[in-house]
Amino acid sequence: MRTTYLLILLAVAILLMFGCKETTAYGEKKMSIQKQDFGKTSEAETVDLYTLTNANGLQAEIMTYGGIARSLQVPDRDGNFADIVLGHETLDEYIKGHPYFGATIGRYGNRIAKGKFTLNDVEYTLATNNGENHLHGGIKGFDKAVWNAEQMQTETSVGLKLTYRSCDGEEGYPGNLSCIVSYTLTNDNELKISYEAETDKATVINLTNHSYFNLAGHDSGDILGNELMLNADHFTPVDEGLIPTGEIKSVKGTPMDFTTATPIGSRIAQVKGGYDHNYVLNSSDGSLALAASVYEPKSGRVMEISTTQPGVQFYTGNFLDGSNKGKGTVYNKHSGFCLETQHFPDSPNKPQFPSVVLKPGEKYTHLTVHKFSVR
Ligand code: BGC
Repeated sequence: MRTTYLLILLAVAILLMFGCKETTAYGEKKMSIQKQDFGKTSEAETVDLYTLTNANGLQAEIMTYGGIARSLQVPDRDGNFADIVLGHETLDEYIKGHPYFGATIGRYGNRIAKGKFTLNDVEYTLATNNGENHLHGGIKGFDKAVWNAEQMQTETSVGLKLTYRSCDGEEGYPGNLSCIVSYTLTNDNELKISYEAETDKATVINLTNHSYFNLAGHDSGDILGNELMLNADHFTPVDEGLIPTGEIKSVKGTPMDFTTATPIGSRIAQVKGGYDHNYVLNSSDGSLALAASVYEPKSGRVMEISTTQPGVQFYTGNFLDGSNKGKGTVYNKHSGFCLETQHFPDSPNKPQFPSVVLKPGEKYTHLTVHKFSVR
């Protein structure tokens, strides 16, 4: 009897030592969070790479550098997994410069004209990094910051909570801004990205994620055959510098119309330079609503995106030119598409657009859910 008790105690101790450190099992399959050292920045900051695995084997790799989603493994209709987001192999390649592959974008997703805006009668001048304009938070945006990470686990999900404090004056923005970006991978095959921020001085904010998707696999060529539905009857036309003119225009009868599922490539030749436009989502009351749905016929993969945001930037990788060596492949024009859920570009200078102002005492929140399935 005593020996049996001792053996059970020993088995429990071994399980606690080896079984529960980084990997926890719920149900039949193993959900896990694994952490690995991914190198150092030029300022000698340590960068970690976390691998989140759900009970169905879906996997997301998240880096503390830039809060970047480096890979996302999702099954096709036959159960074969493929990585469906563009990215790099090493930290050095990310540091050398990349077109925001998978990155967390802040303080402001997309462009602010001439890097200027006025708030409470004060004119602020931001870093300009896209000709005369400010793009994706400036020269050192949130995509280049090293975030603190905390693992999160429930019975039905694994996740990572990233935090970053952006100081008053960073890239020209007012206010100390405390940000939380949480990635959660659920057993319902959803990747949820939630954002929270608070400031100690009135500022502007527009956080998003810049993943480039190809549902056939990141290394499978162009995305022109991916079929897209956008829950948007209107878009915001832009000028030559890709700054919205301020108009809200109907998509009806134009190549911008994705209100019914359409292959991305079917009318792209009629859109100068390719798609790089903000769509005005039909649901704009701040509740979680379907923004987009993408289906890739060869693999059968489906991605549905729901968001609390009023807009989504649809970008077809028009500036990818083969100079980015990805994970064992080369990314050319249209190798990936982005659906960046966000407020409209240049809102700080467009009083007719929904406000992006965050004041002390208020909380910025944003939730976007990517749900994966097959057809
Ligand atoms: C913008 C593009 C830009 C790309 C990469 C997108 O969000 O709309 O104009 O080239 O990001 O920076």
